[in-house]
Amino acid sequence: MELNLIFETKSISKKVKRRLFKIYSLIIAFLKKTIITINVFLRRYIAIRRINHILGNLNNESLVKLNLGCGTDYKIGWINIDNNNDRNISKIDLKWDLRYKLPFEDNSVDLIFNEHFLEHLTIEEGLKALSDFKRVLKINGVLRIAMPDLKATIEEYLDPDWKQRAWLKKFGLDFVQTRAELININFRSWGHKHLYDQEELERRLIEVGYREIRFCELRQSNILELANLETRNESILIAEAVK
Ligand SMILES: C[S@@+](CC[C@H](N)C(=O)[O-])C[C@H]1O[C@@H](n2cnc3c(N)ncnc32)[C@H](O)[C@@H]1O
Repeated sequence: MELNLIFETKSISKKVKRRLFKIYSLIIAFLKKTIITINVFLRRYIAIRRINHILGNLNNESLVKLNLGCGTDYKIGWINIDNNNDRNISKIDLKWDLRYKLPFEDNSVDLIFNEHFLEHLTIEEGLKALSDFKRVLKINGVLRIAMPDLKATIEEYLDPDWKQRAWLKKFGLDFVQTRAELININFRSWGHKHLYDQEELERRLIEVGYREIRFCELRQSNILELANLETRNESILIAEAVK
């Protein structure tokens, strides 16, 4: 009889413990979610205030121009944005993770430029970003994208003189011994997640709803503000997409 009572008490206390642990886990999960939500909200609020301050300093005739994933390429007259994670960038206008909705109103931006940025996002993140860039652009606003070209990467792999390419020296890659090593670097190094060629870039831009797409030569554009922007000769694939 006594032994039975001891067993029952033990199993009740086990049950209570399990239940308490469940409640505790639920409270922790709820707190975590709340803290993340407040953090996102605060970041967004601070970013919007910062952007409003910058926009307030523009005169009425100035175009609103964004240089996204700017890195160390700070462009005067542009709003330079980067999340500043992968190197020490001394000057930016806004620290922002471009995988998240830009802190700009719909239809409020005239021009967007980015160089060697989009290939740092996965295809899902890239599509989301392209779509958000379109949201903030005014009607007829233009997005210019400059990036490495997958086709050029393949051509380089097939080139018998691939070792003589100037960019290998420039980026300290003269240690590379084989084409396989080189092509893997092109695909995976520097945080590359998805490489594009002309067909792929055009398809994705159409997919998110840009209405006109044109491919351009390095530093060439019919739009004065979009000419002479690229800083890298490795920007081989360049497109302008009109909202
Ligand atoms: C190869 S660098 C190019 C920098 C500059 N545009 C240039 O051509 O010299 C890629 C830049 O994209 C930025 N970047 C990558 N992912 C990002 C993200 N999710 N949000 C904001 N910036 C990001 C990096 O911090 C880095 O500065």
